[in-house]
Amino acid sequence: MANSPSGDSATDRIVRILETFTSDRTVQTVAQIGRRAALPSSTVYRQVDALVAAGLLERDDEQRVRLGMRLWELALRGSDALRLRQAALPSMERVQAEIRQHTQLAVLEHDEALFLERLSHPAAGANITRVAGRLPVHASSSGLVLLAYGPPELQERVLAAPLARVAPETITDAAALRRTLAEVRTRGYVVAPGSIEAVSTGVAVPVRGAAGDVIAALSVVLPRTVPTDAAIAALLRAAAEIRTRLAHAR
Ligand code: PHB
Repeated sequence: MANSPSGDSATDRIVRILETFTSDRTVQTVAQIGRRAALPSSTVYRQVDALVAAGLLERDDEQRVRLGMRLWELALRGSDALRLRQAALPSMERVQAEIRQHTQLAVLEHDEALFLERLSHPAAGANITRVAGRLPVHASSSGLVLLAYGPPELQERVLAAPLARVAPETITDAAALRRTLAEVRTRGYVVAPGSIEAVSTGVAVPVRGAAGDVIAALSVVLPRTVPTDAAIAALLRAAAEIRTRLAHAR
């Protein structure tokens, strides 16, 4: 692909444009995209036109731009994440019917927990998780599970970096986090009260694939006052069901 005078390729520029869209910023003007992607105006107008023509971006009536359905369609084609979500959904619905709060499925993606699905009861408590959104691995229950069973290089990378205090009870001390991860592996689940927001408790368990390796985390988010035993039991049952379903789907 042609390189610009600054040395970035056309692919780099496209990625930079697409990455200006976040879960909090889903609609932008072309000028905003250009500023956030640090691209010259002529480049960004030309690239956005090309991406709209290809369906990867869409324009609304006010000429503002959002990610296109075609991007979603291509991303889900043959996706392991979609297969996992489909295998997990019946069990997630059972957990949700029983616990009546929030039930979520997350995978590890670039050192963060990426959420593939979230089911919520209309009267459920607070929850900052979004589908296709991310949470830090050291501060969310799903993240703690993914970290505890993740590659040792990931654990060392996370433990070596500053651990941001997201909420009053986030674990920010590396030695304490190391102890918590060992505890998660011993118990097979984590209960994380006030780790990412003061008012909620996250409860998460590992989901194993057909070969027995941990491929995801299944979690519920409860108001702080709700006891966690029923959620732990429901999640462990659901994770075992998902593993069986994945084994049969091979
Ligand atoms: C958690 O997984 O620990 C968690 C996630 C979202 C919340 C609260 C807790 O809003």
